[in-house]
Amino acid sequence: MANEPAMSTANNAARNRNIGPVILLGPPGAGKGTQSRQIVEHYGVPQISTGDLLRDHVARGTALGLEAKAIMTRGELVPDELMYGIVADRLREVDCRCGFVLDGFPRTAAQAGWLDAFLEKEVFDNFDAKADTKSEKPKKCPLIVIQLLVDYNQLLLRIAGRRSCPTCGRLYNIHSQPPLVDAVCDVDGSKLVIREDDREEVISERLATYERQTKPVADYYRGQRRLIAINADRTVEEVTTQIFGVIDSHCVGGC
Ligand code: AP5
Repeated sequence: MANEPAMSTANNAARNRNIGPVILLGPPGAGKGTQSRQIVEHYGVPQISTGDLLRDHVARGTALGLEAKAIMTRGELVPDELMYGIVADRLREVDCRCGFVLDGFPRTAAQAGWLDAFLEKEVFDNFDAKADTKSEKPKKCPLIVIQLLVDYNQLLLRIAGRRSCPTCGRLYNIHSQPPLVDAVCDVDGSKLVIREDDREEVISERLATYERQTKPVADYYRGQRRLIAINADRTVEEVTTQIFGVIDSHCVGGC
């Protein structure tokens, strides 16, 4: 209790900073969604989850959703060209001006190249423009790429045990983070659901797709000396501490 004011001051300081773009890379079940939510909470930046954006299109029955549904159900990737539009639209929204966390994008080397060009042209330019019009910084905040490393068998266990709330999106796991009441969301009482692509036969295809198409993204950022790999085979809290440490050390002085 005695630490509360100090804690909330620290939290406010974190929320008022511009952390720039943060990318969470990792296979299905690595904890990208779980950790993105921690970043959102702590730094006050939005989470851009391409999986959630696509699932929203599927739920609304848009043309993109109709095309994406069958692909996602097979555990494959939606074509790059379809992804660029929805990501660009989302990143142009005003809440992304002080940073954002990307969860599930980029997922191919081509997407990584596209993102670099987009950030250079539309996002970093904006940060620089802001710096020109203010007496104090902010300065350009570098892209942070964090790779979550998790043992393969642990991934299988995490995906098979995942449950989510269809109303608030909160994630649970029947093994590691169960709800207080079986199959019911702690926050709003909704009945928890299992994701369509979390069926056993789809899980192995999603993991194979990751090895084939998304691993090269890690090589891409390693080549740029941007990749920071962390051991995500630990508790949620321990992984969060590592991630915050990376973000804080990259944005020294408040971008
Ligand atoms: P997407 O929704 O992005 O799914 P994914 O990458 O397969 O990742 P997941 O959501 O399964 O896992 P996660 O890493 O977020 O883990 P989580 O935090 O939930 O993509 C779905 C589909 O959309 C793709 O297959 C593709 O078809 C399409 N798509 C999306 N983006 C695309 C793109 N850019 N290009 C083309 N197609 C695209 O955690 C998992 C479970 O583990 C939870 O139950 C959680 O509670 C638990 N957990 C988390 N952390 C821990 C921990 N430290 N210890 C114990 N349990 C933990």
